[in-house]
Amino acid sequence: MEPDPATPSTPRRRLAVGAVTVAAALSLLAIPGTAHGLADLQSESATISGGVVDSNHAGYTGSGFVNYDNATGGYVEYAVTAAQAGPHALVFRYANGTTIDRPLAVTVDGATAGTVSFPGTGAWSTWRDVTTTVTLKAGANRIRATATTENGGPNADRISVNPSGPADTEAPTPPRNLRSTGKSATSVSLAWDASTDNVGVTGYVVHRDGAQAGTADGTSTTVSGLTAGTAYRFTVRARDAAGNLSPSSNEITATPGGSAPPGVPNPGAVTTLRSGTDVPWGVAFLPDGSALVTEREAFNVYRLTPSGRRTNVGKVPGAQNTNGEGGVLGIEVSPTFATDGYVFVYHTASGGNQVVRAKLSGDGLSGWTTILGGIPKNRYHNGGRLRFSPDGRYLFVSTGDAQNSSNAQNMNNNAGKILRINPDGSIPSDNPFPGKAIWSYGHRNVQGLDFDSKGRLWASEFGNSSQDEVNLIQRGGNHGWPACEGTSGSCGGTVAPKRTWSTSSASPSGLTIINDHVFVATTVGQRIYRMRINDSSNLVEQQVYFQGSYGRLRTVEVDHDGDIWLTTSTDKDGTTGNDRVLHVDIAYPQP
Ligand code: GCU
Repeated sequence: MEPDPATPSTPRRRLAVGAVTVAAALSLLAIPGTAHGLADLQSESATISGGVVDSNHAGYTGSGFVNYDNATGGYVEYAVTAAQAGPHALVFRYANGTTIDRPLAVTVDGATAGTVSFPGTGAWSTWRDVTTTVTLKAGANRIRATATTENGGPNADRISVNPSGPADTEAPTPPRNLRSTGKSATSVSLAWDASTDNVGVTGYVVHRDGAQAGTADGTSTTVSGLTAGTAYRFTVRARDAAGNLSPSSNEITATPGGSAPPGVPNPGAVTTLRSGTDVPWGVAFLPDGSALVTEREAFNVYRLTPSGRRTNVGKVPGAQNTNGEGGVLGIEVSPTFATDGYVFVYHTASGGNQVVRAKLSGDGLSGWTTILGGIPKNRYHNGGRLRFSPDGRYLFVSTGDAQNSSNAQNMNNNAGKILRINPDGSIPSDNPFPGKAIWSYGHRNVQGLDFDSKGRLWASEFGNSSQDEVNLIQRGGNHGWPACEGTSGSCGGTVAPKRTWSTSSASPSGLTIINDHVFVATTVGQRIYRMRINDSSNLVEQQVYFQGSYGRLRTVEVDHDGDIWLTTSTDKDGTTGNDRVLHVDIAYPQP
């Protein structure tokens, strides 16, 4: 064995400095090794520590080989670009002119990948292959081979790296249930259900309006830099280590902006936006901050600006009143209004109550289309609220029992229910009762609907003579009516309300949730209730506002600035002309 191990190689160390520099320069210039097709990586082009490049023994490939120092710890590190993740055959070409094994410890990106034997080859000019298996990730890997004995490593000519399994050509499954989980004025937060893959999902690609908008390691992300009031289309694809992309997830549309600031919503100053009006029943906000308001008895839909300017945009065709609670009731603006201009209205017609859709262009509604008809009607108990789910995918509709309490338990009609439909009126395939719009049942007359920050649906419900309710709606749930009113009667097996009031102190219509505070507008009670949803999903810290100040209240909605608009319902049973739309400043002190 030469040189004498007792005389460590001072000259080599000096040479090594230059060699490392050269090697580093070479590795910058060299095209990184690819793991396809028996790619070779020359040791002299790798990163060398504790070794020098020599060429004094014949038979090497490339321009030389690495002569490890005769000491532990020297290494050669190869930069390997793998086309696919998974097991790879790693072949070292080496010579060991001694009779003593010179094991090298192999790591991949610092992770131990085993120790490989390099027994004697008979002569320094006799080169042999030794093979081991390492697991690489797709893309860049650092394979380091470190001397483990005081003899150092063998003379190292090159390595070659080859995937040992078949190439991964199988794409991940598409991400499912893409949804919006929140938004700010300029951002939209997205979440989805994880994809699966035969090898493993390594990340997700988020697309906005067809172009890549970002990537995510996990199953959620926030896309920022958006413009408030503009509708954006989002899809997500999964990718695996080999770069295979899944088909796209479901597409959703989300419009940033229009959220209240964080904090506790405390009502403050009230101003009248409009007075002397027909019963203003539904209120929904357009991206520009104005509201669309429906008139129950006059059947008008008008735009009302925050400064109180009114512009009629249409009269609902075929609307009828009932000399009672029917007429033109709830209204919703499409979550994709910026691109489709759709407005949804719930109203009474000759064939029953129905949900219709029209397009607002400029100041005119046109193209009225019935998307869900035949909801039983009567003079009273017509329900009427519309609310889109937070992800914009489903329209929820509240109905009443049409003064026939058995309707509420009759799964063959839509009275006394909360309904869930697609924006075109079709039935979502994952509704709880196949082929039916019914989302929950056992309701007497629901006129308030909204979602909390966890995406759960809350609803206000008129009781008969004793108890009104606020319910946390259960998918497919029986909420009790008529056997159970509030918490009295035969309530076994039905969903209990989260809050009851005596009908004289409530008779609740509109419901809006701001920062997990539930606001309920009451008619007979002539007040607004505010309650916080606590961690146990209970309604706590009830506050009462405006009791008796503005008469009977129908609707409470939050605008894009976080203020609320109220409507009154002084007019009863077909009389008109005495009602108001009110604006309430909301302050948001931090909790
Ligand atoms: C000899 C041989 C070198 C080898 C060294 C060793 O000097 O010429 O190429 O690296 O022995 O034992 O490591």
